[in-house]
Amino acid sequence: MILVTGGAGYIGSHTVKELLAHGYEVVVLDDLSSGHRELVLTEHFVQGDICDPAAVARVFRTYPITAVLHFAALTSVPESVADPARYYAVNLVGTWNVLEAMRAHGVKLFVFSSSAAVYGDPQRLPIPEDHPTQPKSPYGRTKRMVEEMLADYARAYGFRYVSLRYFNAAGSDPEGAIGEWHEPERHLIPLVLEVALGRRPYLEIFGTDYATPDGTGVRDYVHVTDLARAHVRALQHLEAGGESRVYNLGIGRGYSVREVVEVCRRVTGRAIPVREGPRRPGDPAVLVADPSRAMRELRWQPQFTDLTPMVETAWRWMQRRFGGKPAG
Ligand code: UD1
Repeated sequence: MILVTGGAGYIGSHTVKELLAHGYEVVVLDDLSSGHRELVLTEHFVQGDICDPAAVARVFRTYPITAVLHFAALTSVPESVADPARYYAVNLVGTWNVLEAMRAHGVKLFVFSSSAAVYGDPQRLPIPEDHPTQPKSPYGRTKRMVEEMLADYARAYGFRYVSLRYFNAAGSDPEGAIGEWHEPERHLIPLVLEVALGRRPYLEIFGTDYATPDGTGVRDYVHVTDLARAHVRALQHLEAGGESRVYNLGIGRGYSVREVVEVCRRVTGRAIPVREGPRRPGDPAVLVADPSRAMRELRWQPQFTDLTPMVETAWRWMQRRFGGKPAG
């Protein structure tokens, strides 16, 4: 049985769906601090906090776990700057608790949710995995520290792991069963779509003076179902005896904030007012992955290679979730 921590969250819940489709038995551990019970598609659900070693140990005693996919974490870059202690507690100590429970139960296969935030400002583009890692936030540092911890556990205890550095996760389950659901919402595409739905008056563009073709930030958006499939590939790689590896997950192509807004206008057919604001501190101008290692070694091929169909899946989910009703 596969343990998915954070399986009630955005990327975790989509990965659970994909694991079930591949015939895996899955148990989810999630404290529902940001996840949603409705997104958990497996019947095996344990509500618990990774910061509580007893709760983690109980899961390992109750279920015959053979591998762990570890999504549970705090994920806001600005919040991590304002309150780093929480980020070190959950992302580092919480992860350590999971690793220690694995060690106690002889479980050695681990797939980790890392992030492009480990790189910091890119020195070259697209970014390969051997690019220097100089994270700009406590959030990014916790991700890098866990990667270092994993390398040490691998050397000393025979763990094998895959660390997946996501670029910008986007979209929702094409079948509409689950989708992106953050409270509060901070991510660009759902924010733009909430404007399209009339739930927000306008989108603020964070910075229009970047050294990019239209002055706005460029990101590599990768569909959440493609991310989920990459996790299944990573797990299969480890189960087949594959060695520990780090992989970028992106499509290798960037879209600017203005391009994202334009695609959302086309997909929704609605007006999307924008206001130009200052840069958000800590945002790199451009983040684009070189995903060729994952494509080659995991035989991972993103199905969504264009933003329009990604936004279409996001829009369908948002319309269902909000029923087209304005806020309030
Ligand atoms: C960030 C992190 C990523 C992390 C993710 C998790 C970095 C470099 N990236 O992605 O590692 O996993 O959050 O939450 O730290 N934007 C606007 N207006 C808005 C919102 C966003 O203009 O109201 C712009 C941003 O400035 C950025 C782009 O849209 O250029 C995407 O922003 P967002 O969706 O917040 O993701 P990142 O910050 O790239």
